[in-house]
Amino acid sequence: MAYLDLKNVSKSFAGTLAVKDFNLEIEKGTLVAFLGPSGCGKTTTLRMIAGFEQLDSGTILLDNSDISSVPPNRRDIGMVFQSYALFPNLTVRENIAFGLEMKKTPKKDAEKRVNQVLDMVRLQETAKRFPHQLSGGQQQRIALARALAVQPRVLLLDEPLSALDAEVRVVLRGEIRRIQSELAITTVYVTHDQEEALSISDKVVVMNKGIIEQVGAPEEIYRAPQTRFVATFIGTANQFHGKVDGRESVDCGIVRLLTEPLKDFINGQSVVVLVRPENIQVQLEPPGEGRWNSIPGVVETITFHGAVTRLGVNAGGQRVVADITVSNTKPVALNQKIWLQFTPDMCQVMVADE
Ligand SMILES: Nc1ncnc2c1ncn2[C@@H]1O[C@H](COP(=O)(O)OP(=O)(O)O)[C@@H](O)[C@H]1O
Ligand SMILES: [Mg+2]
Repeated sequence: MAYLDLKNVSKSFAGTLAVKDFNLEIEKGTLVAFLGPSGCGKTTTLRMIAGFEQLDSGTILLDNSDISSVPPNRRDIGMVFQSYALFPNLTVRENIAFGLEMKKTPKKDAEKRVNQVLDMVRLQETAKRFPHQLSGGQQQRIALARALAVQPRVLLLDEPLSALDAEVRVVLRGEIRRIQSELAITTVYVTHDQEEALSISDKVVVMNKGIIEQVGAPEEIYRAPQTRFVATFIGTANQFHGKVDGRESVDCGIVRLLTEPLKDFINGQSVVVLVRPENIQVQLEPPGEGRWNSIPGVVETITFHGAVTRLGVNAGGQRVVADITVSNTKPVALNQKIWLQFTPDMCQVMVADE
């Protein structure tokens, strides 16, 4: 049974649909990421869960009760925004205690709770400082501590790390995940950063133009994208356009690609075959005959990415990217002729958009 349940939720602004027929079940204690490009409706959905935005239609259930028209302050939901939104004239301790005072928590209990959450975010020593005396990362930790102080039923985070620099972002996302797991608090985490979403969530909800494209575990989303949008938004995917040609192949002009059995397609149907760069092997000699695909090409670009080196290859006029690692590939030079090799199971076939 889902703990937080969004049923057919829709919302428009001045006639433009921001969120369209959104259906999602979130299990208790899990971290779910809303991932999608700017403007796809992530914040709007989050604000509807928090109660800052009214639904046009649909229902939101929390722990089996309809909260769609419950005011925000009675929903027991904590929220952290991109901008730190701490009270500048209150100390860290006072910032965190604010919600507890609103709830008329006895002073002793409040003090204990403030200390607990300060320990949780590992910033006990900042208790007497003011927000401007903290770094951006510290301020976001305090914002998190403040949201958690009142023990909300659900925690909502809207791009909480977007204003921070890369190194702090990576550390803090790990911290958020640690705290979330320790408390087993049901959390929705909004981000446009795929790496962030994939690295910390139990489930990722990929959104595009107000609709859900796919919901799944991070690995599933990466390995088995169900739509072209997901395949290209998450990671990199080479796209070969062609027509189904027999039961297990697609004629792409420059090459006839061998695929797994194409059960849901008809002969001659226009499709796109997606192949991830890390699933392509680069050979310096023509591969022998076998049940694999082999495309000759010429190396046009070589870009070092740390763990991998990405080759941009001209394959009969089409640009194909392939990732190689130093340990498994011989050195490759610009303008060198090479062969791109990949097995049928690395080809994901999707219907082409008209
Ligand atoms: N208060 C508002 N008034 C008018 N349009 C809005 C308002 N809030 C959001 N929108 C529009 O709704 C769409 C979704 O916005 P938003 O939920 O903020 O997207 P995201 O958080 O994914 O970037 C966008 O087209 C945005 O311009
Ligand atoms: Mg947003």
